[in-house]
Amino acid sequence: MKKEALHCIDVQQFNHNFLEEICDLADKIREISRTKAGMEYLASILNHKRAMLYFVQPSTRTFLSFYSACQMLGIKCAEVRDPKTSSEIKGESEEDTVRTFSLYFDLIIMRHPRANFAEKIANLLNDTDHPVPVINAGSGKDQHPTQALLDIYTLRRSFLHRGGIAGKQIAFVGDLRRGRTARSLALLLTQFQGVKLYFVAPSEYQMGQDILSFLDHQKTAYEITDDFEKVIPAVDAIYMTRLQDEWDREEGISVDIDIERFSFQKRHLDLLKADGIIMHPLPRRQEIAVEVDSDPRAAYWRQVRNGMYIRVALIAGIFQRDKKILDYYLANT
Ligand code: NCD
Repeated sequence: MKKEALHCIDVQQFNHNFLEEICDLADKIREISRTKAGMEYLASILNHKRAMLYFVQPSTRTFLSFYSACQMLGIKCAEVRDPKTSSEIKGESEEDTVRTFSLYFDLIIMRHPRANFAEKIANLLNDTDHPVPVINAGSGKDQHPTQALLDIYTLRRSFLHRGGIAGKQIAFVGDLRRGRTARSLALLLTQFQGVKLYFVAPSEYQMGQDILSFLDHQKTAYEITDDFEKVIPAVDAIYMTRLQDEWDREEGISVDIDIERFSFQKRHLDLLKADGIIMHPLPRRQEIAVEVDSDPRAAYWRQVRNGMYIRVALIAGIFQRDKKILDYYLANT
């Protein structure tokens, strides 16, 4: 039988049950990691494995979050962040470069500017006699599945005592057309009953028709608007994003928009529900005023921390160690 590795390529592969399970596991990992004995246990689980972090697009959080997650599980990491330092500069194809990684490492975590590259690599490796799992850590303007997992995890924790994510209203604000985090999270929210999404953006940066068609198909309610202040009081969560202007040159456009209209200012805190939350995948520019950070409804720094735990859970699951961790949790906490 053909061997196939378990990959994480896009959010369409996750169902509701998986989301509940991975969030439960992340909660348990968080708890286990509070003690030295727990940390030592976690670090013993996959200490025979090695991971390659192939990040040829800029990254701070996602890179460090995966690096930390691997460390927590005892996985040894190597990294390529600049293709100029690998043989690609000698004319090797990226496909050959990544295939080489699969011969040294047990896991490839990759961020790449091309939308379908991670998927292509996963398929290519499945056809070799040494397939290793591939995790998509951000693919061009398309998807960022592990960010969507940490966003779901953050929403779930935030709404734990308010009936969970089902039925909540969530606004996405900013460059939604090119923001892969907003795209992935919008797709994943279709897994929850009765949610309503608001897409708040200038028309040039509105959410892509491919995502809207998927929402229609899943019967997930949404509204398209450019009136941010009207949306703020209506929603339970606001997902801010930055202008993704690194794509302007490739797209040959330069749009002059008033980004101020799509930013969260201190005065907006008065409009937001008392138990509403503000999220951001980060990095931010001016979309959220720094004065907002100290408000308890600002969830974006918590999001960063949640990312580490959900990635530990994801990697543990890929290597089928989830059951082992749950057993340890039952016996020791
Ligand atoms: C985002 C990304 O790289 O897509 N950052 C992240 O991974 N947390 C968002 C962005 O760059 O705007």
